[in-house]
Amino acid sequence: MLATTNSVAFNGIDVLRITIEVQITSGMPSFTIVGLADKAIAESRERVRAALHSIGLSLPGNHITVNLAPADVIKEGTHFDLPIAVALLGAMEVIEADKLLNTIMMGELGLDGAIRPVSGVLPASVASVAQQMRFVCPAVQGAEAAWSGNKDIVPVKDLLQLINYYKGMEEIAYPEPAPQSDKFAYTLDLRDIKGQENAKRALEIAAVGGHNMLMIGPPGSGKSMLASRLPSILPPLTTQEILEVSKIHSVAGLLKDGQLVTHRPYRAPHHSASTPAMVGGGLKAKPGEISLAHRGVLFLDELPEFARQTLESLRQPLETGIVSVARANSHVSYPARFQLISAMNPCRCGYLGVAGKTCSRAPRCAEEYQSKISGPLLDRIDLQIEVPLLSPWVLGQIKEGEDSATVLKRVLAARNFQQKRGQNILNAELDGTQLEQTANLSDTARKVLIQAAEKFQLSGRGFHRMIRLSRTIADMAFSDEILPEHISEALAYRLPERKS
Ligand SMILES: Nc1ncnc2c1ncn2[C@@H]1O[C@H](COP(=O)(O)OP(=O)(O)OP(=O)(O)O)[C@@H](O)[C@H]1O
Ligand SMILES: [Mg+2]
Repeated sequence: MLATTNSVAFNGIDVLRITIEVQITSGMPSFTIVGLADKAIAESRERVRAALHSIGLSLPGNHITVNLAPADVIKEGTHFDLPIAVALLGAMEVIEADKLLNTIMMGELGLDGAIRPVSGVLPASVASVAQQMRFVCPAVQGAEAAWSGNKDIVPVKDLLQLINYYKGMEEIAYPEPAPQSDKFAYTLDLRDIKGQENAKRALEIAAVGGHNMLMIGPPGSGKSMLASRLPSILPPLTTQEILEVSKIHSVAGLLKDGQLVTHRPYRAPHHSASTPAMVGGGLKAKPGEISLAHRGVLFLDELPEFARQTLESLRQPLETGIVSVARANSHVSYPARFQLISAMNPCRCGYLGVAGKTCSRAPRCAEEYQSKISGPLLDRIDLQIEVPLLSPWVLGQIKEGEDSATVLKRVLAARNFQQKRGQNILNAELDGTQLEQTANLSDTARKVLIQAAEKFQLSGRGFHRMIRLSRTIADMAFSDEILPEHISEALAYRLPERKS
């Protein structure tokens, strides 16, 4: 007897339909799974055997073959347990095999037959809509699946319930999408930061144009504090972006209680993070920190402390917004359009240039420390600012700074102005040619820029970086043209050349 159903395999967050065929033929008792299955799927035999046993069924004493097609695609994950078990039940004629055809299933089996949560339910459910198929998933993930809008979702808690459902003995209610908690996700507000007007201005520019930023300053100057407040002045995610970000979190197994990710992600991995943890991939391909930060902020604190290889691996995604990682015999890509905010001390001890403190190994200490960040990486960071230690006099003030809501209003207005130019990407994402078309430099501004480029020996990329930044600064002033004052402000946000 042959029975067929479907499940999915993931390539990044892209979903590929996998057909599961189970055939029982006469012969020596055996249970074989073929079709490039990983170890988790091979082990699913034991879980399926135990789950059937728990509901009083035993495996037929015949030759059982499970085929996962297409055979040349690597299949990974425990979500194949459920479709394998159900197709087997079809082949055993416990369930009518015809009822399993137009269905995508996923779920991990417990030894007691319980169906446990798995990762990737949201993108799989979205794919089931496109393929006009029923979607069967773990009961606790029904709410997550329901966001896809599929009208035929069956959330099941255990194997017995599913058998009863197919036999028409039990109804299973359509899952309700979980109500989104409207709790404001960012409790950190810019108003907590006293002084540091320069750094706050740079943060606002970063928010408007989507620019990457590096802050250099001594310990305790407020760098981490500034970075953690960036999400509070970024525009909310659009509906399209919410789905995009939530799919990535679903594949990573991080969606909680069926709720979508509705706020901009903020990821701050520790500097000991490995390259696979940062960019994704590894033995069990999962999105890395940069993909979890998609459409949000990736904060790298103590930048030079990260492994060089890990930092260099950020170069490609910073440019393209996509990360492609090599696996044993394939590639997997994840979206990774994130805004990089980084912080570092000026030297290892951190006190170079601080009044009243000395760095005993200056200037070598700073040179060695700062050289850990490669030129090409620095080139991709439009905004590079110094965050000085505040005087106790400023810190002692009771007066609070401007709050995030006020700044956000300005950011939204400036982004509006940006879009009115007919440009649907942020200034930070404009490449050289697009810049030529949209920047609109006034004649004097162009002269100022060329003079500065000669004086500071700006590279081609550095030159474009200045135009990009000044375009954002001009947008904030609602100016169609980039004027000399916008160029001069942009020139102030270039650290290394200025030092030299
Ligand atoms: N401008 C400021 N306004 C209010 N509090 C501040 C300010 N700057 C620093 N602080 C206080 O100092 C603490 C340390 O700041 P923060 O952690 O941001 O420093 P940092 O620059 O990241 O230091 P490190 O280099 O050691 O990581 C904050 O938690 C806050 O209490
Ligand atoms: Mg810090």
